[in-house]
Amino acid sequence: MNIDAMTLFPGWFDWFAEQRHVRNAVERGLRLEAVDLRAATPLSAGKVDDTPYGGGAGMVIRVDVVEAALRDRYDVEAEEVRRTRRVIALAAGGRQFDDALAGELAGGGADLTLLCGRYEGFDERVLEHLASDVVSIGPYVLSGGELAAMVVLDAVIRKLPGALGHAESAVEESFSPALEGAPEYPHYTRPVEWRGHRVPDVLLSGNHAEIAAWRRTRSRERSQR
Ligand code: ADE
Repeated sequence: MNIDAMTLFPGWFDWFAEQRHVRNAVERGLRLEAVDLRAATPLSAGKVDDTPYGGGAGMVIRVDVVEAALRDRYDVEAEEVRRTRRVIALAAGGRQFDDALAGELAGGGADLTLLCGRYEGFDERVLEHLASDVVSIGPYVLSGGELAAMVVLDAVIRKLPGALGHAESAVEESFSPALEGAPEYPHYTRPVEWRGHRVPDVLLSGNHAEIAAWRRTRSRERSQR
């Protein structure tokens, strides 16, 4: 899988790319690159944004700047890019990111381009005509799309084969189909008793069927709560 994060701050992704599970995925064929949105701008002095029509605070990233960045990167008309890869614009008002979308992106076979906005975000025509998806990581406003892109990428990359030390950890985890979309069951490890609080006996029983049933029940309870 090839992933490009298009951003005005490519350096933000250096730390992310150094993390163990990301390096594991890269060793298994993932290519992750941070692309400077400013590099191909057609405007003078590296300008990428402008004041909003209709007035208001803040600056808006121009559609012609994103167009130029896509065309420069993929060597096709910018509107064509979303036909061959998922072009995901990060925006607070987008579709809420969830485990199902992470699974779709990890398993869908398409390369990804993440468009990270800054300031007041993108000109609406970026979302309408250049992006294939507009994704939000939650109902709050970040100062830019970079952290949101890393959240999306983290959830996607850990689902790629070989990214995690234990492949099962990504199968039966919170919100996964294996748990019917419910939150994960509780986990315990040593010590078996801490300040009077004991690990549930069933987990010490060695009875795998009972443990599985207990976990399923706890997971469903959490979902109902
Ligand atoms: N950009 C600013 N806030 C955001 C959010 N909550 N999700 C995705 N991108 C954003």
